[in-house]
Amino acid sequence: MRIGVVGGGLMGSGIAEVCARAGVDVTVVEADDAAAERARERIEQSLDRGTRSGKMSPEQHAAASERLAYSSSIDDLEGSDAAIEAIVENEVAKRELFQRLDAVLPDAEFLASNTSSVPIMKLGAGTSKPERVLGLHFFNPVPVLPLVEVVRSIMTGDEALGRARSFAQDTLGKVCIDSQDRAGFVVNALLVPYLLSAIRMYESGFASKEDIDEGMIKGCAHPMGPLALADLIGLDTLLAVAQSLHEEFRDPASVSPALLNRMVEAGLLGRKSGRGFYDYSK
Ligand code: 3HC
Repeated sequence: MRIGVVGGGLMGSGIAEVCARAGVDVTVVEADDAAAERARERIEQSLDRGTRSGKMSPEQHAAASERLAYSSSIDDLEGSDAAIEAIVENEVAKRELFQRLDAVLPDAEFLASNTSSVPIMKLGAGTSKPERVLGLHFFNPVPVLPLVEVVRSIMTGDEALGRARSFAQDTLGKVCIDSQDRAGFVVNALLVPYLLSAIRMYESGFASKEDIDEGMIKGCAHPMGPLALADLIGLDTLLAVAQSLHEEFRDPASVSPALLNRMVEAGLLGRKSGRGFYDYSK
């Protein structure tokens, strides 16, 4: 099987890595050659980490690397069996991309989006076959977290949905849950109001960021606290999900705190920019 992964950032590189480790040939498409090279470096570093921790042998690492190709042109996806989009959370850019994928991959089994904030219906609507457009929503870090949300829009067909679920479950070995095409799907609809509450708690001086995080780790056995998790997700992505939840449900719990807005405006995006609620530059 050959799959195209469009976008080689945090999520796209993780998705490409798990596909290659599962024996799938992958072409990662980025905006330009420099970004494609950064995606390659990111994936190789993660494969190195997996090899060091004994999750795969050096031979398995080499085989996965060989299955990965990098490109700056969507045209290089021609002939792929399916595509997964993981570009920036921008509706216009995603809609344009799906139209392009639709043209380049007329016979692909499914065109999936890893979006966490754009309705799948909006992505399918501009294509010639909205029945093959659906959501496959992975969780960060993709090589570690087993879940994939399988999202059906009101136009998604059973055949494409079945193939995508089988790909995530049987080929990649992920655990799938189904979600309707509603803002946040299942997990973010529950998780994001909690993260926003933690930011409001910190912003108001109710407790320190360290104590908020320690409270949820030690008091509720979460693997990390909400502010550290916000940094891991990326504050721009968190803001995009909050905005989509608020637009859809108008629940005050999903209003973005002013502090989050200011941090995103300042480019303090969390781990990926080197600074968010915590400093990662050292
Ligand atoms: N890539 C590959 N492997 C990784 C990794 C990465 N980026 N990060 C961690 N790992 C592996 C490590 O190799 C290690 O494996 P080992 O035990 O076999 O050696 C294991 O994961 C644990 O890593 P660490 O010891 O470095 O660190 P921790 O034990 O603190 O775990 C964590 C780090 C995996 C990030 C853990 O804290 C965690 O699971 N946190 C919760 C993450 C979460 O909730 N994610 C969901 C976010 S929501 C989302 O993605 C949706 C989006 O739409 C917003």
